[in-house]
Amino acid sequence: MRHSAHRRDDAGGERAPEADPSPAPVDAELDELMAGLAEPQKRVSSKYFYDAVGSSLFQRITELPEYYPTRTEAALLQRVALVWMAEHAPASLAELGAGSAEKSRILIRSMLAAGTGRHFLAADVSGTFLERSARALREEFPELVVHTAVGDMTREIPSLHSLPAPRWLILLGSTIGNFDDDAARALLRRARGRLEPGDAFLLGVDLRPGPTKSLDELEAAYNDAEGVTAAFNRNILTVLNRRFGCDFDPEQFEHLAFYDEASHRIEMHLVSRIPQVVRVPGREEVRFAAGETLRTEISCKYDRPGVEAMAADAGLRLRRWEEEDGRFALALLTPG
Ligand code: TRP
Repeated sequence: MRHSAHRRDDAGGERAPEADPSPAPVDAELDELMAGLAEPQKRVSSKYFYDAVGSSLFQRITELPEYYPTRTEAALLQRVALVWMAEHAPASLAELGAGSAEKSRILIRSMLAAGTGRHFLAADVSGTFLERSARALREEFPELVVHTAVGDMTREIPSLHSLPAPRWLILLGSTIGNFDDDAARALLRRARGRLEPGDAFLLGVDLRPGPTKSLDELEAAYNDAEGVTAAFNRNILTVLNRRFGCDFDPEQFEHLAFYDEASHRIEMHLVSRIPQVVRVPGREEVRFAAGETLRTEISCKYDRPGVEAMAADAGLRLRRWEEEDGRFALALLTPG
């Protein structure tokens, strides 16, 4: 985890998006990739979505009419941020997967308005995107101290030590849902490990279909008419090609996303149009049958008891819960 409170001009916006600088793949990453591709249901870690191109495509997803989670969560934040901050007076905010930091702005404005603090740490897996966002935040909020941490939250959560307490660790956008149950619980435990008494964890979660949210509405959020989600999905293959030197042909894979009722989750796949072989330098080649799928993402959907149980398991207590129309919820968790 590279952690910096300064502007890093070397990772700036003049670079072509394709040149998103990433360290050479370590063996552990290749092992993880190959293990996923060797499963009966082939799968790949969704962290590879977020190169500069992927991050921009995801930004476009959040603006699509079908993709309700972003605007629903923003409305929730507008409604509760000031109230919850008045109670919990954070001196600093640390957001995981901050991306373009659009929703962070609501939280930052609330914190500055509440007058409780002026530190913001943005952590993201895409360094280029992160530095661009940090620069924009510094311009927009001159009184704010903006810290950045480039890193992979699936491995490590940045230390909050340099931030004044009490701190809010923040994970929005139902990103927790992109982890399977074990990994989500592990992530919450790691988050808990970074928190001290008085700190809090703000979590945004997408809810299960119900009376106010139909299955169609939920599935449409991952199957937009414009095909932005499909392009986002295929981009993961381009990222894998660049990172590992493999030779996926994105045109030979089709986007598929559906809700699986039994596991309460959206699954996103790439369907091989034809029988094909993909080369991975230094490793065995990977075969796809026609119609065989590569699972690229899961997006688990929650209810309140589920979140409470998951939090309790990590040593966190549910202090506040706010829903918008049965669509999306915000939870404020505290240690102990
Ligand atoms: N965490 C969000 C979600 O699950 C964002 C997301 C991740 C997403 N991967 C996605 C949105 C793919 C659309 C398509 O909804």
